[in-house]
Amino acid sequence: MSESTIESILEEKRLFQPPDQFSQTAHIKTIEQYKEVYEKARNNPEGFWAELAETELDWFQKWDKVLDWQPPFAKWFVNGKINISYNCLDRHLTTWRRNKAALIWEGEPGDSRTLTYAQLHREVCQMANVFKQLGVKKGDRVGIYMPMIPEAAIAMLACARIGAPHTVVFGGFSADALKNRLVDAEAKLVVTADGGWRKDAIVPLKEQVDKALIAGAPTVENVLVVKRTAQKIQMEPGRDHWWHELQKGVSGECPAEPMDSEDMLFILYTSGTTGKPKGVVHTTGGYNLYTHVTNKWAFDLQDTDVYWCTADVGWITGHSYIVYGPLSNGATSLMYEGAPRASNPGCLWDVVEKYGVTIFYTAPTAIRALMKMGEQHPNARNLTSLRLLGTVGEPINPEAWMWYHRIIGNSKCPIVDTWWQTETGGFMITPLPGATTTKPGSATLPFPGIIADIVDQEGEAVDGNNGGYLVVKHPWPGMMRTVYGDDDRFRRTYWEYIRPKNGEYIYFAGDGAHKDEDGYFWVMGRVDDVINMAGHRLGTMEVESALVSHPAVAEAAVVGKPDEVKGEEIVAFVTLEGEREANEALEKELKQHVVQEIGAIARPGEIRFTDDLPKTRSGKIMRRLLRSLAAGQEIAGDTSTLQDRSVLDKLRGGA
Ligand code: WTA
Repeated sequence: MSESTIESILEEKRLFQPPDQFSQTAHIKTIEQYKEVYEKARNNPEGFWAELAETELDWFQKWDKVLDWQPPFAKWFVNGKINISYNCLDRHLTTWRRNKAALIWEGEPGDSRTLTYAQLHREVCQMANVFKQLGVKKGDRVGIYMPMIPEAAIAMLACARIGAPHTVVFGGFSADALKNRLVDAEAKLVVTADGGWRKDAIVPLKEQVDKALIAGAPTVENVLVVKRTAQKIQMEPGRDHWWHELQKGVSGECPAEPMDSEDMLFILYTSGTTGKPKGVVHTTGGYNLYTHVTNKWAFDLQDTDVYWCTADVGWITGHSYIVYGPLSNGATSLMYEGAPRASNPGCLWDVVEKYGVTIFYTAPTAIRALMKMGEQHPNARNLTSLRLLGTVGEPINPEAWMWYHRIIGNSKCPIVDTWWQTETGGFMITPLPGATTTKPGSATLPFPGIIADIVDQEGEAVDGNNGGYLVVKHPWPGMMRTVYGDDDRFRRTYWEYIRPKNGEYIYFAGDGAHKDEDGYFWVMGRVDDVINMAGHRLGTMEVESALVSHPAVAEAAVVGKPDEVKGEEIVAFVTLEGEREANEALEKELKQHVVQEIGAIARPGEIRFTDDLPKTRSGKIMRRLLRSLAAGQEIAGDTSTLQDRSVLDKLRGGA
């Protein structure tokens, strides 16, 4: 689409109405209905959530109290007993869904597997029984480091079944990053695979696990290995076990443990503003309800849908919207192991065509990359089964939105731009596709039960188009409960950044946003030291610590620079130790060092060597200035606190 067409769309403030045909069968059909539900939830949030908890989920024992709010600590459905694996599996077995496809899986080499609810239930029970044999008990933590194969979901559900919280570590993280997470979570068991397929190559997962355990994760007693790629790996007798061997002869029945609603379901590590990732803790009942209802309404899940979320299970999107949300709803969830690659740039569209995918959910970075590959790939496939599209992870630029709408959605599919975070558990601001008129680039309106606002640091609402901090004012069932082992960090990071005069606790998300005249939210991106690169969250401090751990590096400052495809790209400003010389070989080595410390997702795009970094008189690095430099912009704003002004001139001179 030409520049001028896009401009005219923006100037016209073009609106996209939900298609009538879509609205007629949708769970939420009109904007009036949305408003009614929203008001109902606002006037009585506890009543609203309690009614849904009762009608949408199965409980072993009802709660005494809907919400116990001791700011900033929330308990939902106090004393309720529930199991999310039961809600995702067992309750469907007594209905016609018993033999419905729960998971449709497509491997990158083209192999595939479909598991009905009954089959998935059996495998989950078997794995849960194997976990028990390996000494895993309720409350023990299990690390999951897996490719995108059904056993990843099976392992998560098996953990949930016996009440052992999982911590899934994205398969793209390095051995070191894996080790740190296993140590922090004190994992007793690791579930992994020999390898996984990605872009026609094998990701050597088991080898990484071996390295992590050599580096030291003393609590890990056993490793359960799924055979996927069948390449040669080391198996340590007594510690490492093949899943297919232990699975033989194990019972396909395993009762779901009645969990307290507030028992921990999982820990998921995410980047923050310090060098150490935070273990975000989610619990059982509230998370189950929240992912269930948000998935149902925002994606309008129907029994006829083939729903495909392209995220990896290692991220929150995979947890909430590949596994728990869809299965709790009895939906058909598609899992794909691969990624677009030189040998098949159109592989995603092959999958849509092969399975008749009706709902497709991906990230703006992926959309921009697909756009670059050219529309001949989607155009060569039949995508007419699609009825709804979604995006998540970063702000979507109107060009990408329009391409997605026209080329993938054939100008007929609504697009839900869902704003949320690892911490929020599920969608917070999102269109409801049968009801909400959309505007390209806006996540539109808050989900019922969510009181979102844009405020200044005192918590005062800022008006109109003025940007401010995006906050949430009332607890919601899917919210994180704490940072694992660090209540204090939880309080400080999320609840004490905004300080209203009345002492109220307000959740601050780390994002900046503004609201337009229709009350639509436009998320602008992170306002803290977190970079959103290709939809992955990385802390600048995390990358800096990785760099400084290299013997040549004295100091490092990392910033994000706008990138056409990835949204943001990492630029590292580095000063070297004494005699070390800046050259291309060292630049390469440092990039590789970051990959080794964190993983390929953190590889800096650019390293700029410099003699000095711009600092305030108190010694704080002024990242704001570096961000402007990295983006090639003029330095605006106040530089009066800069300790040594000549540093800037040197950096500008092309250090
Ligand atoms: C960003 C991913 C704009 C945001 C589910 C947030 C978005 C961070 C959107 C969380 C969106 C997510 N529009 N920005 N629709 N969705 N973000 O924890 O900066 O990996 O704070 O969760 O992604 O990233 P996380």
